[in-house]
Amino acid sequence: MNDPKSIIYLDNAATSWPKPPGVVEAIERNVRENAANPGRGSHEMAVKASRVLFDARKRLARLFGIGNPNDIAFALNTTHALNLAIQGLLKPGDHVIATSLEHNSVRRPIEAMKRRFGIEATFIAADEQGNLNVKDVEAAITPRTRLIAASHSSNLLGSIAPIADLGELARRRGARFLVDAAQSAGVLSIDVEAMGIDLLAFPGHKGLLGPQGTGGLYIHPDLDLEPLMHGGTGSKSEAPEQPTVRPDRYEAGTQNTPGIAGLSEGVQFVLRETTKAIHDKERQLTFELMEGLLGIEGVRILGPQIGVERTAIVSFTIEGIDPSEMAFLLDRQFGIAVRAGFHCTPLGHETAGTYETGAVRASPGYFTDKSDIVSMIDAVREIVGTMGRRN
Ligand code: ALA
Repeated sequence: MNDPKSIIYLDNAATSWPKPPGVVEAIERNVRENAANPGRGSHEMAVKASRVLFDARKRLARLFGIGNPNDIAFALNTTHALNLAIQGLLKPGDHVIATSLEHNSVRRPIEAMKRRFGIEATFIAADEQGNLNVKDVEAAITPRTRLIAASHSSNLLGSIAPIADLGELARRRGARFLVDAAQSAGVLSIDVEAMGIDLLAFPGHKGLLGPQGTGGLYIHPDLDLEPLMHGGTGSKSEAPEQPTVRPDRYEAGTQNTPGIAGLSEGVQFVLRETTKAIHDKERQLTFELMEGLLGIEGVRILGPQIGVERTAIVSFTIEGIDPSEMAFLLDRQFGIAVRAGFHCTPLGHETAGTYETGAVRASPGYFTDKSDIVSMIDAVREIVGTMGRRN
């Protein structure tokens, strides 16, 4: 087994690692000292636990330009948040537009809504590099289009969608706009007001540098979603229905307070460092990785060309080598962690022309070192050389 200290971790698009100083300590402190149930009592410890959630909400609101922190509902992960958005908003007869870059966390809830309620869906094709034409989205709008959903950055290609333009379009044409920020929260600048975002689904455990089991959904104040779950909230306990007050309406059951304590520290770190500094560093590492890999025979990198804006995602194929075998050898022989296969986005693979093969995905993070990138390039070169001789 690899020693965590010697692992070269290039799988930050799946979940970020390591976490910044303070995250683990905040989780531990919460469990040790402050483990009461938030919103379920008026004793001091319960009030302190509620404070943990509110402070995290305030930091998230600052990061995303959200006026009222209570418009953020915590969720288990982006998938949970996206399901709340999609299932909570769409009604029979509605039409939804999404893109050919969506993760299954958007695509599958939409497909389920098609099957269960007969909603209609149009997936707009991006080009092979992940460019999406806003005019194509506009052309697909019908009088019944209730929602436009887009992944801010493709988890396969790293391409970045024209979010502000899509938000403007949705506003102008009377549709709601949902952004899947799984790969962008904490890395790209997001301002829900300026970008016309009605629903922002984000993970806590990727770019926001918190633990797994955290995430959330921003819900525009004039939008009332049907809750995904009904149950205890600690408020209006006498009422048979879910309360309308936020965030309680969307947060039935005990929340992941220790996880959110950790998330809060992660967000604080991002606010201090700034998304610009984080993205600048990750972009530099990403371009260096792309340049090195492109120097190896048979390598094809998916998504935007080198030099074009993208997030820190470098998916690639190598002629004659199975992506899963490449990932296996990187792990076993070099201690390098990457992801291989289909990345939960068959639509993205169709777009990139890798539906049959899948791809290797390397995703640096803010704590990746330049030397890690050099090791990755050298390792791929060596594997290609060895396998080339073998074949
Ligand atoms: N959605 C995550 C990924 O793309 C898990 O790897």
